[in-house]
Amino acid sequence: MPTLKLPGVELALADHGAGRPVVLIHGFPMDHSIWDQQVRSLAPHYRVITPDLRGFGRSSVTPGKVTVEQWADDLAAMLDALKISEPIVLGGLSMGGYVAFRFFAAHRSRLAGLILCDTKAAADSPQAAAGRLETAQRTEREGAQFLAETMLPRLLAPATQAQKPEVVDRLRQIILAGDRFGYAATSRGLAQRPNFTPLLPQIDCPTLLIVGRHDAISTVAEMDAMARAIPDSRIVEIDGAGHVSPLEAPGEVTRAMEQFLYGVR
Ligand code: MLT
Repeated sequence: MPTLKLPGVELALADHGAGRPVVLIHGFPMDHSIWDQQVRSLAPHYRVITPDLRGFGRSSVTPGKVTVEQWADDLAAMLDALKISEPIVLGGLSMGGYVAFRFFAAHRSRLAGLILCDTKAAADSPQAAAGRLETAQRTEREGAQFLAETMLPRLLAPATQAQKPEVVDRLRQIILAGDRFGYAATSRGLAQRPNFTPLLPQIDCPTLLIVGRHDAISTVAEMDAMARAIPDSRIVEIDGAGHVSPLEAPGEVTRAMEQFLYGVR
């Protein structure tokens, strides 16, 4: 995987195909490879870039705390380094969606469209934020195994867990391959991310929302409400998927993305 030396970070990324740039951001605690199947289908028509965010996968780790502001600025620096000046479509799963909201707020002119996958606009409640700080400490002490044990059951739909052991294994391997200090820094940063709900009516680019019908973390009801608040948006519900729909139902997610991308000018 090529690596870009950016200010304060070495960013690893996969970069396939040619055409309009489509940048896809993974969730927590994951890496770029959750998008592999979408990359394979989209790369014949688009330039599909899937980075590992700072602290994840093969990118360098900044211990302590990393924020959505930092990740969004890393993405802008990545586009500069790749000499991409045309507007991109930016997609993000869950945490990747939080980064996409921040990117919209800070770098609007670089966007042609947004794909918000299994994500939410609201900030953490005080209890959730406190839980993240505890998660950060325990992950630093016990390693990525702690996250695999506590998060896997909530990330995937019951049907995925029962019928697709290869998807469960794949996600477990991705989680275990991550760096405990990168995960901890992320947990601290996510605890203090802003509430993006007031931003939703201002989103003035075409936006696709994708939600797994059994997503226990970013529910269908929550994402429906987001879709109603974003003017030029549509929402696609994915049967048989939970919170990691690109891995759980790759074909349906890819089709929704293809239809959307075709219409983005
Ligand atoms: C994710 O999938 O990125 C996480 O569920 C996000 C979060 O912990 O809020």
